[in-house]
Amino acid sequence: MSKVTLSLVCFFLSTLFINFSYADVGTAAQYGPPFIPTTCFGGDASKFPSSNMFGAAGEGIWDNGAACGRKYKVRCLSAVVPKACIPGQNIQITIVDRAQSSISRPSSERATMVLSTTTFQAIANASVSLINIEYQE
Ligand SMILES: *[C@@H]1O[C@H](CO)[C@@H](O)[C@H](O)[C@H]1NC(C)=O
Repeated sequence: MSKVTLSLVCFFLSTLFINFSYADVGTAAQYGPPFIPTTCFGGDASKFPSSNMFGAAGEGIWDNGAACGRKYKVRCLSAVVPKACIPGQNIQITIVDRAQSSISRPSSERATMVLSTTTFQAIANASVSLINIEYQE
């Protein structure tokens, strides 16, 4: 390999690394209706995103309430159940509640975030209660 080729390869590898380093790895559970925000937007459900892609923040990303309205790109990585992820699905979600106090309870406690059933189904098999995710604000 020539020096030029080698430095190009190094350049692309470092770009790849930088891109991935923006994303965090965590877990996502799911929750069904009713979706009544207890902690965000003063309880006003009309502030929910029209895309219907939303979720509740786990304590790790709740950020003392600053998480309300934050948008995350989310991708399913894996789950205990094989083939639970729908391949190639990237979604953008908006945080509308705090998982710890949501009226409808999550399928699993301690998840990084809890996605509405519709949102969850866009990236994973609905019968799974917890998936590993990559997420990025
Ligand atoms: C979801 O998982 C269940 C249980 O493992 C399975 O029966 C079903 O076929 C899966 N659905 C899809 C769409 O893969």
